[in-house]
Amino acid sequence: MQQEHYRPVFFCLRGKIPFFYTMPVEDLYMKVVAFNGSPRKEGNTGLLIAEVLSVLQDHGIRTELIQIGGERIRGCTACGKCRDRQDRRCIITDDSMNEYIAKMIDADGIIIGSPTYFSDLSPETKALIDRAGYVCRGNNQALKRKVGAAVVAVRRAGGIHVFDSINHFFLISDMIVPGSSYWNIGIGLEPGDVLQDKEGVATMRQLGENMAWLLKTIHGR
Ligand SMILES: Cc1cc2nc3c(=O)[nH]c(=O)nc-3n(C[C@H](O)[C@H](O)[C@H](O)COP(=O)(O)O)c2cc1C
Repeated sequence: MQQEHYRPVFFCLRGKIPFFYTMPVEDLYMKVVAFNGSPRKEGNTGLLIAEVLSVLQDHGIRTELIQIGGERIRGCTACGKCRDRQDRRCIITDDSMNEYIAKMIDADGIIIGSPTYFSDLSPETKALIDRAGYVCRGNNQALKRKVGAAVVAVRRAGGIHVFDSINHFFLISDMIVPGSSYWNIGIGLEPGDVLQDKEGVATMRQLGENMAWLLKTIHGR
């Protein structure tokens, strides 16, 4: 996300008293963070996510794409320390998970994209869901009422299971999930193939429209 350091000044009248106030410019914009769980950075999952992000950007929503596929990310060790400590952090610090958790908590919307691997999530996506999910659920439902959307790439079959797994995470986290004109799945094998799936691309663009509408409605913009 682009960082700007100036603080715009706002003016309003309270009764007849002029009142000036400032707010960090970042707070003016809604933010969506997207995670690409495919190790193929420029692959089909990434292309599908890019379609959604481009629509969000057209609506003035700030976006950030984080590549987690191919990263060394540990799974949850079920130590429960995140619940004891109540610091919104995972005790494992030798990978970037705490940075990802902080990005999720800071964002208004979260997109999680995964390729379909043996009818399931990629391991990096699973690690993100388990660790961020356990930390946030154990820390006063830290993702409550954020908007969440799943994006899935598949060659042939099993994508709906991946879609369901990501949505199960959103829905148990008190998050709000927008729909689209179909389930958010694009079909392709080799990187770029998914762009031939016109219906899949249209589904992603409609998802972007619905996510933008929902974010604006929730935040009164
Ligand atoms: C380890 C592995 C397992 C896969 N399992 C499935 C599968 O169960 N069903 C399927 O339709 N495609 C499967 N595929 C194909 C990918 O889901 C497909 O190529 C997808 O477009 C990859 O997305 P990406 O380009 O973002 O990596 C598998 C691919 C790999 C590498």
